Amino acid sequence: MAFATRHFVRAASSAAATAAAKKLVVKHVTVIGGGLMGAGIAQVAAASGHTVVLVDQSEEILKKSTKGIEESLKRVTKKKFADKPEAGAEFIEKTLKNITTSTDAGAVVHSTDLVIEAIVENLEVKNELFKRLDKFAPERTIFASNTSSLQITQMANSTTRQDRFGGLHFFNPVPMMKLVEVIKTPMTSQKTFESLMDFSKAVGKSPVSCKDTPGFIVNRLLVPYMMEAVRLFERGDASKEDIDVAMKLGAGYPMGPFELLDYVGLDTSKYIIDGWHSLEPNNPLFAPSPLLNKLVEEKKLGKKTGEGFYKYK
Ligand code: NAI
Repeated sequence: MAFATRHFVRAASSAAATAAAKKLVVKHVTVIGGGLMGAGIAQVAAASGHTVVLVDQSEEILKKSTKGIEESLKRVTKKKFADKPEAGAEFIEKTLKNITTSTDAGAVVHSTDLVIEAIVENLEVKNELFKRLDKFAPERTIFASNTSSLQITQMANSTTRQDRFGGLHFFNPVPMMKLVEVIKTPMTSQKTFESLMDFSKAVGKSPVSCKDTPGFIVNRLLVPYMMEAVRLFERGDASKEDIDVAMKLGAGYPMGPFELLDYVGLDTSKYIIDGWHSLEPNNPLFAPSPLLNKLVEEKKLGKKTGEGFYKYK
């Protein structure tokens, strides 16, 4: 009997150890922030069969997000189901059924596998949110941020689940862009990292992994490149038009750096470079640009305000 009990205890504890070692398969996702990125992430997660709760600050915003998702799904299905409109309509209906909305994140994370945060790019606001949700979410739940420029480690440290915390950096527009950068901090467990990689593949993306360093891969290369183009122009070495033509025809880039800066938004680019500059003030790649600062001060923020490096009217 003693042997049987010991055997049972050993078997039970080894089953628990196996369960603990198993990675989490994400089925239920909570996306916080129903803006440009959050709505896109909710869409691709729902379209790939996940149950999604989309959270934002008001019903009005959520209505707009849902409408945007519906419009985007219509565009996707027009191509995907070109010859089968009925299958397309069914796909849209099924996808939308997978999404519910809420204005109370704390109330909806009780049975979620993964929380993806896509709110305003402000570390204090993000930390506040994660700290609060840490109290409501179950132990197994993985937290991930879609931040472009902030440190994932600092957000993880606002919770008690540093090992179940990582970055999931999607690209705009989410339904079209195939890449996701999966960010592993020094505390992210291998199991969490693998669950995030698997989730990214499950939503139809091609994930790459990167440590928690400024800009991860894409922005770390892209932002200093754009800033170097501004410095080239500031020095009077070449005109912005010639720099754009050169990079399109000589490097095969679809947009020149000034066109790209105007598209991204000059305020966003300034915010990113200022943040990195404060982290590494001696890194010349992260040096602020007087010209960029001046344009932002004049509210010439790019395409969205009608003028940046170029005029759009
Ligand atoms: P956005 O401004 O379009 O959307 C943010 C949404 O979050 C808004 O609807 C806002 O009402 C909501 N929100 C703000 N605080 C909230 C809170 N405490 N609780 C719930 N909802 C809240 O911003 P966007 O462009 O979607 O960016 C979101 C995040 O994604 C940022 O961290 C940004 O750096 C990152 N990102 C943005 C990309 C882009 O091209 N816009 C690309 C990749 C990442």
